[in-house]
This record gives sequence, structure tokens and C-alpha cells, in this order.
Amino acid sequence: MKYNFNEKIDRRGNHSAKWEEIGNKFISNDLWPMWIADMDLKTAPVIIDAMREKLEQGIFGYVYRPASYYQSAADWIERRFGYKIDAKTLINSPGVVPTLSILVRLMTKADEKVLIQSPVYYPFSSVVKENNRELVVNELIKDEEGYYTIDFEDFEKKVADEKVTLFIMCSPHNPVGRVWKREELERMSELCLKYNVRVIADEIWRDIIMPGFKHIPVASLSKEVENNTITCFSPTKTFNIAGLQASFATFPREEEWKMVDEELGRLDVKRNSPFSLVGFEAAYTKGEEWLEELLIHLDGNMDYVINFVKERIPEIKVRKSEGTYLMWLDFSGLGMTKEELSMFMQKEAKIALDDGFWFGENGTGFERMNIACPRYMVEEGMTRIEKAIIAWRNK
Ligand SMILES: Cc1ncc(COP(=O)(O)O)c(C=O)c1O
Repeated sequence: MKYNFNEKIDRRGNHSAKWEEIGNKFISNDLWPMWIADMDLKTAPVIIDAMREKLEQGIFGYVYRPASYYQSAADWIERRFGYKIDAKTLINSPGVVPTLSILVRLMTKADEKVLIQSPVYYPFSSVVKENNRELVVNELIKDEEGYYTIDFEDFEKKVADEKVTLFIMCSPHNPVGRVWKREELERMSELCLKYNVRVIADEIWRDIIMPGFKHIPVASLSKEVENNTITCFSPTKTFNIAGLQASFATFPREEEWKMVDEELGRLDVKRNSPFSLVGFEAAYTKGEEWLEELLIHLDGNMDYVINFVKERIPEIKVRKSEGTYLMWLDFSGLGMTKEELSMFMQKEAKIALDDGFWFGENGTGFERMNIACPRYMVEEGMTRIEKAIIAWRNK
């Protein structure tokens, strides 16, 4: 491998939320940090070089976006997914979650409802509730093997409610790690078309796909589906540049592009920082080789966890994620309440994971582990969990 993803990392002093703000969310600051979704890995050198060049100019005034900025995103989509979009349909916003929040507010009326599929990335429910819209939940189905699928009967019931006008799809899915198949995407989008429900596809994870799986941008299914779908994405998860705080969304309908553009103008958040401007374009034009190696590293980390659990902690159930660098570990075999499991992880294992119930009540009994780090960090995390479970067995 050309890139070293196993370099020893200590992010204290990096103003890292994951490492240094940990005590705001967990019982102490010294837990092993495998929670929030950023990587303990340096980004691609091509991105660092682009930002260094900007840094060395020494002037960090307001920047404009050249057409090549948007074009680099459109070209990436065509190269990686075989899906051609017009760069003019793209908007830049300060983040995917801000875009979701703006869209919930602008695309639904006060008495309308928004559908999500749980367990799911927890800001999905908060952007709905905080914008005073009613939340409707289609729970995913989990089989004995921990494989999640869509409950289409319930999905249809939910979209058939005429007050449900918007569906926020997570594709690939955080936290259950599914990369939705073409049939699943087709069925969801056809039902949304049938019942006049608009779709926002959060595809922020679409570049982090494990070998053997293929992400299909839902909007690429047909012209009709494309016209019904707004897609949010960003290179931030892909290249570990979430701190740069920018993202894209594709708007097939010009009037909606304008509506969101005006809203970003009212909020006065229409510019990039000089660093996201050059960093994003470098990522999308020159970052592919780095990404391919990253995916091999992440795949290896997932295998490590799977084997560790199989050989040493039979109480846990886990399957390899198809996409994302998040693993969804089932601790329900320990028979603990959600509070007990949370405290067990923090006090006994001394590790910070995202508690499953944050993603919805049906996430109870699970913990989400972020494996985007050097291998030794995964080893340490798993060893801590094993030690705590050995002590629990002997109680
Ligand atoms: C599904 C999903 N959407 C959005 C985000 C965050 O996006 P942003 O930082 O651009 O708001 C995350 C971060 O983990 C995520 O998992």
C-alpha cells in the first residue's frame, strides 16, 4: 500500500470533538474514542497539498466558487457511479444536516408529516421534530442473522397517509450498514411516486462501500425518480474532512434549487471557507487512489472485528457492514437495559461508542462502533470490550 493507515495517532491537541469533547456526551474524557463518525486517519495528501497551497497564500478572505468546483463533484459521480448529472443542479450548503433541516422546513407545511426508517442516524428525527413537523417511522426489519431489510407493507401504509409528504432516506444506511439493492430502491421510490411523497436521499456514505457491494444513487433509477428526489452528499466522510463543513445537494427542479439558494442567502451561508473550496475539488479530482486504499484498510478492520467476536466474545452478534465505516454490534445477549449497557461500555469497558437507542428505540441493545482508525485502535477497543465481558461472565 502506498498510504499508511496504521500510523499511530493521538488527536489530543487537534481540537478533536471525538477525543476532546468526549466528556460532554459520556461520563469522562478518557474513554477509548470509537464513536462520532470521523476517522482517526490523515486525509489524502492531495487534499493537504491543495490546502497547504491556500494556507501559504496567507490571505483567507471571502472566496468565490469557480465552475470547476461543482464540475469536480459531477465528474466524480459519473466516474464512480456511472450517473451523469448537470453540475448546474448542484448547491453547496454548510452541511448535509443543515440541508435536511432547511428542506424539512421549506418543503413541508406545518401540518404535514415526514417519514424516516429507524434505527437511523439520530439527526433525522431531530431535524423533523425541531422544525415542528410530525415524525412518522417505518421500522426496519432485522432477521436472526442481524440483516436488516425494509418492511414494505408498513412503508406503503406510512406513505399512503396523505399527510406524509416527505421521506428522508439514508443510503447507504447508518447505522445498520446496508447498501440498498436496486429492487429495494425501486420499490421505495415507486411507492413514493405513487403516493406523491418527495424523497430526500442522504447519500453522504455512498463512497464508503465494501468489496462485493455497489451503491446505486437512487436518483439514477429513472427520470421520474430523479425528478422526485433531492440528493445530499459530500466528500467529508469519504476523505475525513468533516471539519471543513460543506456539502452538496442535487436539485432536479430548478424552482427548488432557487428556493434553497435564497434561503442560504437569507442565512448568509453562501460561501465556502478557502480550505473546503480547494480541499473538496482536490478530493474529487485527485483523491480516488487514496480512497481505494482506504477501503481496503476499512475492510480489514471490519474483518478483524468479525473474527475477534467469533473467536473470543460469543455473547456479541455482529455482521460485516456493506457500506459505511460503522459496525452495529448486538449486545442484547448480555440482557442489560439500555442504561445498563451504556454504563457497562463506559465504566467497565472504558470505551465510547454510540448507544444504539440514540438511533431509535429499536436500536436498544446495540452499540455503534466506528472502525475508521489505525488497526491498533480497533484491537484496543475490542480488547477493552472483551475484558469487561470476561469480568461480567465471572460475576
Ligand atoms: C447519514 C448522515 N448524514 C449526515 C451526516 C453529517 O453530515 P454533515 O456533517 O454534512 O452535516 C452524517 C454524519 O455522520 C451521517 O451519518
